[in-house]
Amino acid sequence: MNKHTQFKAEVAGMGIYVPAEVRTNADLEKTLDTSDEWIRTRTGICERHIAGKDESSSTLGIQAGKMALESANISPEEVDIIIVCTSTPDILFPATACFVQKGIGAVNAAAYDISAVCSGFVFGLSIAEQYIKSGRYRHVLVIGSETNSRIVDWSDRSTCILFGDGAGAMLLKSVESDEPKGLLSSHIHSDGEKSDFIIVPGGIGKTGVSHTAIDEGEYFIKMAGSATFKAAVKRMTEVSQEALDFNGLSTEDVTLVVPHQANRRIIDAVTDKLGIPSEKVFMNIEKYGNTSAASIPIAIHEAREAGLIVPGSLTLLAVVGAGLTWGAALIKW
Ligand code: ACO
Repeated sequence: MNKHTQFKAEVAGMGIYVPAEVRTNADLEKTLDTSDEWIRTRTGICERHIAGKDESSSTLGIQAGKMALESANISPEEVDIIIVCTSTPDILFPATACFVQKGIGAVNAAAYDISAVCSGFVFGLSIAEQYIKSGRYRHVLVIGSETNSRIVDWSDRSTCILFGDGAGAMLLKSVESDEPKGLLSSHIHSDGEKSDFIIVPGGIGKTGVSHTAIDEGEYFIKMAGSATFKAAVKRMTEVSQEALDFNGLSTEDVTLVVPHQANRRIIDAVTDKLGIPSEKVFMNIEKYGNTSAASIPIAIHEAREAGLIVPGSLTLLAVVGAGLTWGAALIKW
């Protein structure tokens, strides 16, 4: 090791888990004034997975986390930190990450949640990156896990059609290398001025537990769809360019874009603006809808399984979510 050798955060393993129950657009047609055709053409979504009554963000996260550790060949005791990125925690506290820690037996890990909604996984990666690059920790497990079906109003056709449940996990491992390798960089931003774009207004700290808030549907997702759409295109494009510029790379260097799976039309608009051809863009939105913080790790895992991510390739992640929050990351495999 020479004086320029640095700690790099390498992806050592990944795992995903989605609940067994599938709710198709045809199922939604039975209870809502909507159509399969409208949902597919406006969003790209065909079906989504829905958590069963015994499932929660921690149980989904445990399954994904175990799979990530197995694929990395790392024992639970070796995990230093578990970061669960979720906006649908099991309960108010303790953190969902503590239930995940117990479930996977990561007895030596510190475990906590972060809340950046759909951007959560990229925000989680940015924390893991700092822990590892500073030399402080060796194994950080980042999990995006969501049970969005619990906070959507199934009578609101403008939001309920969009969301699904699932979990994705990535085990980041410290390696010493002189080469650009692993998580090259992550870039995160927020704009609280736009906090009303996507919001679950029912509060605990703000109002206390409130029957009125429940009766008025305040524990369901409210979204200004069109304003969110425009902000998503602008911010995902900007932050993707920021990540490339930071690393002295161009869009031609990118092997595959793995964007947040919120709406096919947002992904098309972002990648068009960046000048990235559709064959370099991974999408699985048709199967899962928007699984919020789980969307990017599920998509990365499936892209790897499909052979679209191979050693030496460069993956660009880009995301936007409630907050407003947005971010991007580059991974050299
Ligand atoms: N079925 C049929 N018609 C519908 C449906 C539906 N499910 N939903 C809305 N419509 C109707 C509307 O009522 C409206 O009718 P009108 O013209 O008679 O008023 C019409 O379709 C058009 O509605 P818009 O809201 O303008 O439709 P738009 O093309 O904008 O698509 C959508 C809506 C899909 C929600 C889009 O705005 C979107 O994807 N927004 C971004 C969502 C997003 O990216 N979220 C990311 C973060 S989420 C998070 O962080 C938790």
